[in-house]
Amino acid sequence: MNGTNLCEDDCDDNKDINAIKDYMQWLTDVYYDSHTQTPVYGFPTLTIYPVGNIANGEKIYNQKCAFCHADKGQGRYENNRYFRPALWGNDSYNNSAGMNKVYKLAEFIRANMPYGSGGLLTNQEAKDVACFINKHDRPQGNFDASHTDSRNDCQNR
Ligand code: HEC
Repeated sequence: MNGTNLCEDDCDDNKDINAIKDYMQWLTDVYYDSHTQTPVYGFPTLTIYPVGNIANGEKIYNQKCAFCHADKGQGRYENNRYFRPALWGNDSYNNSAGMNKVYKLAEFIRANMPYGSGGLLTNQEAKDVACFINKHDRPQGNFDASHTDSRNDCQNR
């Protein structure tokens, strides 16, 4: 998802911004406190960060992800909405997103994907597929979040 600013100056009075802030506060106050197992960032960090293998990631993507996210990562769009988000290309998250860090993407995938079957991939598989997804082009954000970090390591670039 590649959003645009909802406001420039008057953000305190912006209805949409306030709705998002209220929702996030609700997640903290109500959801998080009543689901004590939920880690504070929503999904667990990996215990180890294996070096990702892009070629293997491509195989995993084609077998386990393309069914929903489509063969070129473009997602699935119907009735004016994405019911499966694009993972790369023009309509995907931009390069300032947390997801643009391979290790963060791997953590998300490990916990949540394939949709409804989170936890099935190994750390290695999650890292491999994250390396494959994030080698593709995506929209430019305000800064590039994929800064150097050993947890982002991928081979076969
Ligand atoms: C059955 C369909 C399905 C399959 C299979 C599937 N996904 Fe997803 N994926 C979704 C849906 C639906 C969402 C949006 C979830 C939401 O917003 O709560 C999503 C969201 C994502 C996101 C977040 C995108 C964003 O912009 O925030 C990533 C990354 C992702 N999937 C990766 C994968 C990977 C990698 C695989 C294969 C291992 C995979 N998915 C398999 C349906 C699927």
